[in-house]
Amino acid sequence: MNFVNRDIVSIKDFSKQDLETIFSIATQFSKNGYDQALLKGRRVGLLFYEPSTRTRMSFDTAAQALGADTVWFAGTEGTSVMKGETLKDTIETVANYVDLIVLRHPFDGSARWAAEITTMRTRRGMPKVPIISGGDGKNEHPTQTMLDLYSMLMTQGRLESLNVALIGDLKYGRTVHSLSYALSMYGTKLSFVAPDMLQIPPHITSFLDRRGIRHSEYSRIEDAVAEADVVYMTRIQKERFPDENEYNKVKGLYRISKSTLSIAKPTMRLMHPLPRVDEISLDADDDPRAYYFQQAGNGVPIRAALLALVMGVCK
Ligand code: CP
Repeated sequence: MNFVNRDIVSIKDFSKQDLETIFSIATQFSKNGYDQALLKGRRVGLLFYEPSTRTRMSFDTAAQALGADTVWFAGTEGTSVMKGETLKDTIETVANYVDLIVLRHPFDGSARWAAEITTMRTRRGMPKVPIISGGDGKNEHPTQTMLDLYSMLMTQGRLESLNVALIGDLKYGRTVHSLSYALSMYGTKLSFVAPDMLQIPPHITSFLDRRGIRHSEYSRIEDAVAEADVVYMTRIQKERFPDENEYNKVKGLYRISKSTLSIAKPTMRLMHPLPRVDEISLDADDDPRAYYFQQAGNGVPIRAALLALVMGVCK
């Protein structure tokens, strides 16, 4: 794939070879450090319509480590979105100020729409400004999946034929959607653990079936943890429930503690895209299998690799 000026809106647009390219550059940055000359004079816009700590700050850190400037908003308070400005008009405007936009937005498909807006600009003779999704609604979070896969590669030494348990809110959690799509390229055995009302959506299981991926659905954590190479825990996405009564039925239902880990393999790694609420108890943090904070750290080299590739300074 030619990464230059590419939009990153769905993990389904990436092949294994593309991901290997990203991992290879991320590894070089991790081992050799970042060269500030690479993106000197470039500017990255971080448009975050929803709350974020990791995605926004790791993109900001990565951009600055490579010498780029960043301009951003975090939440729409204080922006002209509050006056009714549409996503289209904000993207059209900010595309004049920056060389690349990272967008987090609450609507499914918003990243693809933003990418179409900046592509349409080229018909007016203006430069294409690539869009990188930082998460669109309950749909996808492709760069999270890239760092999740990188974390699995770092800890398991391979991506092929792993046994991965995905636990929690599999309906509204965009990270597990992108991750399921990506793992389908690697012959993964997937175990989905969730209450019925939050199980993995049928359009994703159909996708897995078409790719011949083995997957099972469970309601008890214990049924999936013992066999897993990676346990990927997720938060119940309270903000996406249309009815708070429904949220109250499932909140606090699943929790992993140090005692849950007693049935897991010694080589298993416990991951979580974070933030956590109460689904991993604090006593698990010191277990050598807990990997979620290192996983969040992997966001910087992965996002630096993406910025360098899309802005055409690495191959
Ligand atoms: N994993 C993730 O997207 O975290 P933030 O919401 O803090 O960016």
